[in-house]
Amino acid sequence: MGLLTRTYWTLAAAGAAYMLALIALTVPSIQRNATYAHNVNPARWQDLSDVEYFGLIKQQVQPFTVKTIDEEILYCWHILPLHLYKEHQSTLQATPKLADYSVASQQPNLRLLLENPEARLVILFHGNAAHLGSGHRVPTYQNFLSLSTPERPVHVIGFDYRGFGLSSGSPTEDGVILDGVTLLSALTGHDKPSSPTDFTDKVIQSMTSSNSTISADRIVLVGQSLGTFVSSATYHAWTLQLQRPAPKALVLFASFPSLPKLLDTYSIKGLTPPLLSPLIAWPYLQSIFLGKIVDKWETVRRLTELVRAPDVPLDLTIIHAKNDWEVLWGNGRENWEAILEEVGSKEVYAEKIKTGEEAWTRLRWDGGAAKVVRWELLEHGGHNRLTTSEQGKLAVWEALDAPRRV
Ligand SMILES: *[C@@H]1O[C@H](CO)[C@@H](O)[C@H](O)[C@H]1NC(C)=O
Repeated sequence: MGLLTRTYWTLAAAGAAYMLALIALTVPSIQRNATYAHNVNPARWQDLSDVEYFGLIKQQVQPFTVKTIDEEILYCWHILPLHLYKEHQSTLQATPKLADYSVASQQPNLRLLLENPEARLVILFHGNAAHLGSGHRVPTYQNFLSLSTPERPVHVIGFDYRGFGLSSGSPTEDGVILDGVTLLSALTGHDKPSSPTDFTDKVIQSMTSSNSTISADRIVLVGQSLGTFVSSATYHAWTLQLQRPAPKALVLFASFPSLPKLLDTYSIKGLTPPLLSPLIAWPYLQSIFLGKIVDKWETVRRLTELVRAPDVPLDLTIIHAKNDWEVLWGNGRENWEAILEEVGSKEVYAEKIKTGEEAWTRLRWDGGAAKVVRWELLEHGGHNRLTTSEQGKLAVWEALDAPRRV
């Protein structure tokens, strides 16, 4: 075979393999495996109860579970800031045991959160693949925990969506939203939604204020990558559908408008060309493929609805790094621009907090409930390191200490 023939067949084979892969991806279960990547699961060989392995102190972590209405068990970590561990070391259990939230909330670790009205809680909604202790996730918890002070302690909860880590089941869009809502319900003492998909049932608004609960306005939701979708959708379901009191703030690291929009530009680890770029000459094929996406992860629609809703308070930060080669920064920018458009001609108070073209911009207006939206674009931080950076910490700090709403 001549070189040309060989080249030709190699390219044809590569093209055929690519097409086959795309066709396979239209099968919902294969597609979900690729997008959630939950079966890339080191919990199969790592022991999540051995938190020292992940860089944490045993007594610092209370593992607990919450159960969803469709019977999935979600695995969570409550992590104490180091100064509280140090101060209470003698009264903390030697090895806090895994327990349902109802039991874990009576243990010394969670008491420190629940009994101090000044204490705040950051919940991290992690990105796709692996589990709550993987990669940069523990350094992310540590980064936010370091905002803790004796006057205003900051606790962190990390958790795995269904099908990730030790959590049962497998992820779907409705499922992971239900997971976020279920965790918030347990923490705030609200009833669990009575249906896995319908959050509009008004009968379930009841709330028990017991010694196991914390009010939503002490909780900041932080999402990274896939977690920006889950946290936004949780906030949306919680406030707009369930009509429950809003969490204190929502901070999105490396967000994107929706999965179809993301796939247009998504590159695996920044190493491959954008996934759909080979189809650039066939927009028709591209749109067929995008139409086959089962879980659309529509963040932009939810964010604009939150911005529009007259009586839902919103303190939202959208932050992205220019050198994020996985979710290109234009994705986060699209969310911001859609919000600007939604805000339209409202009387807004806008300020540039830092100098520079894309610096911190903060929009504030009063549409019934107070709204604050910030956009920050950083030079550095990539896709994953951003949440462990000082800038990332500052963004969460702003959200934690933003003045109380009226
Ligand atoms: C919380 O309330 C329950 C039920 O009233 C009670 O049994 C328990 O001792 C209380 N726990 C704490 C730490 O106060």
